[in-house]
Amino acid sequence: MQKAPDYNNPQLILETSNLEPGHVVWRSPSNLAIVKYWGKHGIQLPRNPSLSLTLETAFTMTRLDYKAKESAETGIDLKLFFQEKRNEAFEARVIKYFESLTDIFPFLKQMSMEVNTVNSFPHSSGIASSASSMSALALCLCSIEHELFKTLEDDAAFDRKASYIARLGSGSACRSIYPGMSLWGHTGDIEGSSDYYAIPYEEHVHENFKGMRDDILIVHSGEKSVSSSAGHGLMESNPFAEPRYQQAARNMMYLIAAVRKGDWEAFGKIAEQEALTLHALMMSSAQGYLLMKPNSIKIMEMVRAYRKESGNPVYFSLDAGPNVHLLYPESIIHEVRSFVEEQLAPLCEEQHYIDDYMGEGPVQQ
Ligand code: PMV
Repeated sequence: MQKAPDYNNPQLILETSNLEPGHVVWRSPSNLAIVKYWGKHGIQLPRNPSLSLTLETAFTMTRLDYKAKESAETGIDLKLFFQEKRNEAFEARVIKYFESLTDIFPFLKQMSMEVNTVNSFPHSSGIASSASSMSALALCLCSIEHELFKTLEDDAAFDRKASYIARLGSGSACRSIYPGMSLWGHTGDIEGSSDYYAIPYEEHVHENFKGMRDDILIVHSGEKSVSSSAGHGLMESNPFAEPRYQQAARNMMYLIAAVRKGDWEAFGKIAEQEALTLHALMMSSAQGYLLMKPNSIKIMEMVRAYRKESGNPVYFSLDAGPNVHLLYPESIIHEVRSFVEEQLAPLCEEQHYIDDYMGEGPVQQ
């Protein structure tokens, strides 16, 4: 049984009279899971380990301004602007999230805060923004703690706490903290792996995967009909849940080996199987639901046909939505780009795709 880290710290309380108004800004990327996290228990704890690719061009930029609260009232005092407009639904979610963190960051009760957050990808492009937005917020909170109390000097300790805090906002967000690849969830094969936070995996990534491309083909933008949290919930009564968790554990073992060896074929095979399994789990849950669109399926079939004909290692993945991620080595970008432009972009909404790649991780601005 792993031990949960205890981040509760009643010492992190301000002498408010000394607090100068200040702000922190973080840019944090989205990530794409290759082995998927789908199914959770307790407080955002995963049913199986997952491994992801940290993206670069799909990111959230978040600025958090703080000053001493004027009243003695102890609730969370926060206003939130998304893409420069007050967004009350997102604000309510963040207030609830911050309320859940007041034993870890008691100083949040003493501040008035304003959050300004923007996404690099167009609003409702169908890209999951919770990983980038929740990781950006978690990084802001850890930075404020460090600025005010000098408690997180050690970079590894900073990142681990940021990953733990991000997980409480959205499970997949805990993996956005690290460059290259991240691993979240306890697996006997990897020392230091944990259900409570992600760990960096970049140093084990073989040269063959460096600069890996991920073209995100926007088949359909807009709200999903079933949210990820509802999807995780439905796993509890899914008759295939147990075999799925066993499959994920096995796929993690194979994926780890493929990533270390630089084996694109093994990597791609797992990526595609995981993507299709994720959607099969949605279809086989109570009442069943479909997030893929006809063009998602067309694209996946065309990718397989192209791979067969050209011999190029080009593979697909999916998130919990209809958009298709195209994964391939940087060395064949020119060839693959003409295939994308000529054959796949016409199947996308307004020919739109996001040109992304394995990235450097979050950056403080
Ligand atoms: O972080 P959540 O609760 O939105 O779950 C995301 C789950 C998937 O994106 C479908 C898979 C994953 O591991 O990121």
